[in-house]
Amino acid sequence: MAQLLLAGLLLLLLPAGTRGAQCPVPHIAHGQLSSAGNFTSGSTARLECEPGFVPSGTGTVRCTFNGRWYPWVPSCVPGQCPHPPPVEFADPQPRREFLVGSTLSYSCRPGFSSIPGVSPTITCLQNFSWSSVPRLCQKVQCPSPAIPHGRAASPGGAPHSFGQQLQFQCEPGYVLRGSGRAQCSADGTWSPAVPYCLGVCDPPPKIAHGQHSASGVKQFPYGSEVKYSCAEGLSLIGSESLFCTSGDGENLTWSGAAPECRAVRCPQPVLQRGTVSPQTFTFPYGLLLHFSCQPGFGLQGAAQSQCQADGTWHPPLPTCQPVLCPQPRVPYGRVKSPLGGRRWYQTNDTVTFQCLPGYQLPDNGMMPLEESWTATCLPDGSWTPLPKCVKEGDADVCQEVHYIKSVFECGVPVEEVKNLLEIQKLFLEIKKLEMELEN
Ligand SMILES: *[C@@H]1O[C@H](CO)[C@@H](O)[C@H](O)[C@H]1NC(C)=O
Ligand SMILES: *[C@@H]1O[C@H](CO)[C@@H](O)[C@H](O)[C@H]1NC(C)=O
Ligand SMILES: *[C@@H]1O[C@H](CO)[C@@H](O)[C@H](O)[C@H]1NC(C)=O
Ligand SMILES: *[C@@H]1O[C@H](CO)[C@@H](O)[C@H](O)[C@H]1NC(C)=O
Repeated sequence: MAQLLLAGLLLLLLPAGTRGAQCPVPHIAHGQLSSAGNFTSGSTARLECEPGFVPSGTGTVRCTFNGRWYPWVPSCVPGQCPHPPPVEFADPQPRREFLVGSTLSYSCRPGFSSIPGVSPTITCLQNFSWSSVPRLCQKVQCPSPAIPHGRAASPGGAPHSFGQQLQFQCEPGYVLRGSGRAQCSADGTWSPAVPYCLGVCDPPPKIAHGQHSASGVKQFPYGSEVKYSCAEGLSLIGSESLFCTSGDGENLTWSGAAPECRAVRCPQPVLQRGTVSPQTFTFPYGLLLHFSCQPGFGLQGAAQSQCQADGTWHPPLPTCQPVLCPQPRVPYGRVKSPLGGRRWYQTNDTVTFQCLPGYQLPDNGMMPLEESWTATCLPDGSWTPLPKCVKEGDADVCQEVHYIKSVFECGVPVEEVKNLLEIQKLFLEIKKLEMELEN
């Protein structure tokens, strides 16, 4: 300030001879001084800036008598645009300065998306105004929700744009799985997710004297299971569980008929000379019994039986019958006792044999010849070994035949068998001659 006053005083006190002096023409970036008075002392000059630039401070200066610019040589600085214009549903980049030539972009607010093909950028022009801004943003759209067997209702307004709420309902016979309402969210999806409509079964049939596991429930989704139970002491006849299944394809149905509750008792099983298991006192529907007989007795019938819905055992209950041995037969022998023999014998029964006249029990080489032979009926229906009656005096022939037979059976080389047969032939020839001589 003091300098300014001093300069002003000097201006007034300067001698008249110094008037008419010229001020220097300054070099000014992006502009120039223009003066009507040829930059002589006392004249004023105005700063003209290039487009997009503005004078800093005052735009007019005066040439003093001592040839200096007052107050000082001015300069041109870049101009600025005003605050960027508002754009619907969009915000500009945050910025303090808006210099000529700079660009600024807008971004859409949440729930809005930029309109395709429209540039979201504006430029600060040289006339200090913004290039024009078209409509940049539109509301986000959610896809139209698809709910088979259901529908969506919107309480007014554009049905599928950002912020819009929808309410969902299912057709009769279907139940909603998921949220009953959803809102179109900023990212273009429904939130929470669009629900779906699930086919349901009506409540399962009620039964007399029994109940199912889901009383009070009105709708049963696909795959639901209900279990039936009967009142105390009653038997459940049929399948215990029903399932909600897709019956005819469109509507859901229960997997079958409901069971029945009935008092079913089978008669107490009696098995003489045998055992029944398990050992219980009541014989309700479905009970499975197993049977076995004492030794020496055989099961006639099935080894197990189940109590049926009609109160009978199936297969029918078996009996235990004594195991019997058939009348044994001995070639060239006869039964000595019991007298006359019997058709069947029980376990531990014995039969004594005798050989027919002209036949004898074989000589085992050690013991004296036995007169009779006893066999016993075994618990499995077979006999202890039975005797063989051989022709008296033929014992050696028999032994020979047995020997040859065994030779055949054990794979002796053919050449040896042939020799043996030759020997056998000779042996038989001799025997034959002997018998002829005897007669
Ligand atoms: C400026 O100078 C030109 C020529 O140099 C002259 O013709 C003109 O008259 C002058 N103007 C003033 C106001 O002195
Ligand atoms: C600025 O210039 C542009 C073109 O360069 C023009 O369209 C616009 O109208 C001008 N603005 C003003 C306020 O003069
Ligand atoms: C399915 O159920 C609906 C409503 O209960 C009924 O109108 C329709 O006839 C049923 N469809 C079939 C195939 O039974
Ligand atoms: C047969 O005899 C044996 C031995 O004497 C005896 O243990 C068994 O109980 C008898 N069996 C029958 C069915 O009488």
